[in-house]
Amino acid sequence: MENINNNYALITGATSGIGFELAKLFAKDKYDLIIVARDQDELESAAAELKKEGVKVITISKDFFLSGTAFEVYDEVKAMGIEVKVLVNDAGQGVYGKFIETDLERELNIIQLNIGATVILTKLFLKDMVKRNAGKILNVASIAGKVPGPYQAVYHGTKAFVHSFNEAVRSEIADTDVTITSLLPGATDTDFFRKADMLESKMVEDQDLADPAEVAKDGYDALMSGKDMVISGFKNKLQVAMGNVLPDSMVADNMKKMQEPADKKE
Ligand SMILES: NC(=O)c1ccc[n+]([C@@H]2O[C@H](COP(=O)([O-])OP(=O)(O)OC[C@H]3O[C@@H](n4cnc5c(N)ncnc54)[C@H](OP(=O)(O)O)[C@@H]3O)[C@@H](O)[C@H]2O)c1
Repeated sequence: MENINNNYALITGATSGIGFELAKLFAKDKYDLIIVARDQDELESAAAELKKEGVKVITISKDFFLSGTAFEVYDEVKAMGIEVKVLVNDAGQGVYGKFIETDLERELNIIQLNIGATVILTKLFLKDMVKRNAGKILNVASIAGKVPGPYQAVYHGTKAFVHSFNEAVRSEIADTDVTITSLLPGATDTDFFRKADMLESKMVEDQDLADPAEVAKDGYDALMSGKDMVISGFKNKLQVAMGNVLPDSMVADNMKKMQEPADKKE
């Protein structure tokens, strides 16, 4: 295959928030990029910004709500003769509300996006990386995966999956030079909460949201040094540590108070 290029990072969700900040860090370090998201205009404008660092940027527009699209991404990359050096599974969404009231179709889409696409892309690219005995993967989990999340029950569940999956597969490939890193951000100032219809939650109204550039830097540094995981931010490290020692039912009730709609609070 002509034009084989092996200095590419493939980043899903690279048009906004944490993913865009990660893409900027890769571009600064002169990685060529393949960026994936749904909105073609957003992809073009992110690509224009990233190209200012003098790197190549390929855009792929896919909707991971649809099963099968992650396979298409892999096939398109292979057809271009590109070896992916670093894979970042960042694209993800949440859905807010009481589980008995939220839309099931939307939740199944979110499971497909947060879990399905991550598993498919990790499986396909990891096989190639292990064959070459080189490569790195960063999968974006969340501190939400460490605690049950009333009003975001499905989202927290998907992120618990992602983190557990990261640690398990990482252990299986420990005798290779390939690494998998799990990034666990806390609440971060991105478009996430608007997309999740979560702007009225107490958590978003009250919290000091983290800067996505700082979260991305924590993830990037952990990835590059081959760490298994990083919780971004001191406050979030503390919250996870506390969650580890309290009973799960108590953690869930505390989280319910934090995440319920602001107008519910007395
Ligand atoms: N913000 C937080 O508080 C927070 C905390 C912990 C973890 N995280 C995780 O961080 C990751 C990034 O989120 P963010 O906060 O940076 O949110 P964001 O600003 O909304 O960015 C999400 C990115 O994913 C893409 N995306 C969304 N749905 C997609 C789909 N169906 N198919 C393909 N791409 C899709 C979006 O582009 P399009 O909309 O154009 O597709 C966008 O590029 C997610 O996995 C999220 O769960 C976020």
